[in-house]
Amino acid sequence: MPTPVEHLRRMLANPVCLALDVPDWERGRSLLDLLEPRPGMVKIGPVLYMREGRRVSEWLENTDRPVFLDFKWHDIPHTVGEAVAGIPGHAVRMVTVHAQGGARMIASAREAAELKGSDRPLVVAVTLLTHLDAMELAKLGVHDRWKEVQKLGSVALASGADGLVMSPGDLVQARLEWGPSPFFVTPGIRFETQTSPRKPADDQVLAETPETALKKGSDLLVVGRPILESPQPSEVLGALIRMSRTV
Ligand code: C5P
Repeated sequence: MPTPVEHLRRMLANPVCLALDVPDWERGRSLLDLLEPRPGMVKIGPVLYMREGRRVSEWLENTDRPVFLDFKWHDIPHTVGEAVAGIPGHAVRMVTVHAQGGARMIASAREAAELKGSDRPLVVAVTLLTHLDAMELAKLGVHDRWKEVQKLGSVALASGADGLVMSPGDLVQARLEWGPSPFFVTPGIRFETQTSPRKPADDQVLAETPETALKKGSDLLVVGRPILESPQPSEVLGALIRMSRTV
């Protein structure tokens, strides 16, 4: 029997996850209908859900597309368990919690996920958010980025998390530390890296190109604005998917 992680790896048509961070369902829905090729996964989070929760829930009940529900829960174990238990339908294949929530919260998310049966969602834990630069981390008392990721990731994986969300810049050390089994999700994907200019307003630090992130061991590239803000979103997505087949 494949593990849930192996099962998801096999079922994804490609390792590109579209972050559907759009404010209205008409735009979201038309992107889902029109984008060709299709992303391997679709990520739904608060940007869309806060405005269009009812319609998104209805869609979740009916769609057969693999969905990543990204609310990054960080609450007491009972609340997080009930949130996972309340996920509508069977399309949601992955949810996020903050590793900072600790062992019991992660275990509670995992228990609730397991009640959903063999196609249960993976529970992946966010280590450090990908917008935090060295200055912001220092204000939070974090002076060694990797040590913090290592501490949070170890607690999460020992407590039932199936995988971790991290900056692509942490991937090499993460695979050395935790091996091939955990499912690693990387946002912070940009076509240009820190060494070539990006939009000054962009909040992702330690960004990597999609190719580098896959080579370093990412299972899933979460890409939002580079696709959503492109005048030719299908072309961008198509190029990403073609590239992923060459890695
Ligand atoms: O637009 P962009 O490509 O930066 O989108 C990245 C997506 O990944 C956003 O939906 C964001 O919420 C999510 N994310 C992130 N950093 C994390 C976890 C998730 O940027 N650590």
